[in-house]
Amino acid sequence: MPEKKPINGFSKLNKQEKLEVVASYFEDSENALAELQTFWHNDPKKQKLFDEFSENTITNFFFPFGVAPNMLINGKKYMVPMVIEESSVVAAASSSAKFWADKGGFHAKIISTEKIGQVHFIWKGTPEKLKTHMPAIKKKLINGAKDITFRMEERGGGVLDIELIDMTYELENYYQLKATFETKDSMRANFINSSLEEFSSLLKSYFTENNDFVNGEKDCMVIMSILSNYTPNCLVEAFVECDIDELEQPGIDMNPEAFAWKFDKAVKIANVDTFRATTHNKGIFNGIDSVALATGNDFRAIEACGHTYAARSGKYRSLTKVSIKDGKFKYTLRIPLALGTVGGLTTLHPMAKRSLELLGNPNAEELMMIVAVTGLANNFGAIKSLVTKGIQQGHMKMHLFNILNHYDATEEEKKKAVVYFEDKKVSFQKISEFIKDFRS
Ligand code: MEV
Repeated sequence: MPEKKPINGFSKLNKQEKLEVVASYFEDSENALAELQTFWHNDPKKQKLFDEFSENTITNFFFPFGVAPNMLINGKKYMVPMVIEESSVVAAASSSAKFWADKGGFHAKIISTEKIGQVHFIWKGTPEKLKTHMPAIKKKLINGAKDITFRMEERGGGVLDIELIDMTYELENYYQLKATFETKDSMRANFINSSLEEFSSLLKSYFTENNDFVNGEKDCMVIMSILSNYTPNCLVEAFVECDIDELEQPGIDMNPEAFAWKFDKAVKIANVDTFRATTHNKGIFNGIDSVALATGNDFRAIEACGHTYAARSGKYRSLTKVSIKDGKFKYTLRIPLALGTVGGLTTLHPMAKRSLELLGNPNAEELMMIVAVTGLANNFGAIKSLVTKGIQQGHMKMHLFNILNHYDATEEEKKKAVVYFEDKKVSFQKISEFIKDFRS
């Protein structure tokens, strides 16, 4: 392919022009252009909505939208929407939902719901002097930002506290204001960031206007004001528990005690070994991200926060833990999840809106519990398979259709393959041989 010159002013082109530029990057430009267009929504109004979510949009990228039915949480049954491209994830969540349904289902509770924002600044005075001014600074900031915060206060949220953090031992003259917020059901980003920007200009004027400060002390250099995606005090706990005897599984050649013992060891390994912990937690995020995506929540923020939380002891560890006591098995996930059910994509994206509707229009706290439970369900399913029959048998069965699609298998070939592989190990090689034999 000939090397392309840098493009100037791409963002100023209209959609069709952008599409043509992009299509010119493919060997088969005409086909590529036509193919990209086949993923446009047939309702132009809906397509415009999607186009306007982001920038330089030329088409849509489809992901499957599936559901895990019968997810029993705190005695209430949910049909959980999951947007995910990986085979086995929805199946694992659904099978865990089924496994726990007759054992009391999943339980979940909210521990806390606090969000955090920071104003990072450089100031050339002593920490002691700044500390004496903090009560007055806090008052000025909270009162001065009322224009921004009053609506949130009407809904029961707002600024909870503003704290001075002396960071001068890490970086010369570096301080921060750490503000905590309650944002109720909203996607909090815009509210927190607007409040913080207001705080930063009020903070600067506090130094210039106050006569207690002289010379360089009058200058406060705000470096940045932004929310933190690490919200360790926006915590939810999800757990399952049952008598060890109830862990009996048909078709598994392992008694319930041995299963509980091996399960516990698998989780302990994820607690002490970072390589395993990463994969273990990834299995949790399979469930969490797919519900976050389905409900229009920011899964990057959720992942970043969860992984930081997993490393809070100074070492990256498992997010779940097992307790085996007095003949009882309990499996718990504790995770920070800052989610919203109003604002942002939650209401704008038609499918996110439908997902929330499917869940009975939960508030943010209820959604936190549903999402955490789905993460736990996925992880439980993964560990259950890993310590018994292994992951590949079930995974490859689910992957069968992807491999068959790779070979452009017809409906008839797919039907035959499902029957053929029912009692056989699935692998790319084996499917390739099956297709070759069938076609010859
Ligand atoms: C695959 O997406 C997730 C697993 O690797 C998780 C795990 O190993 O616990 C199966």
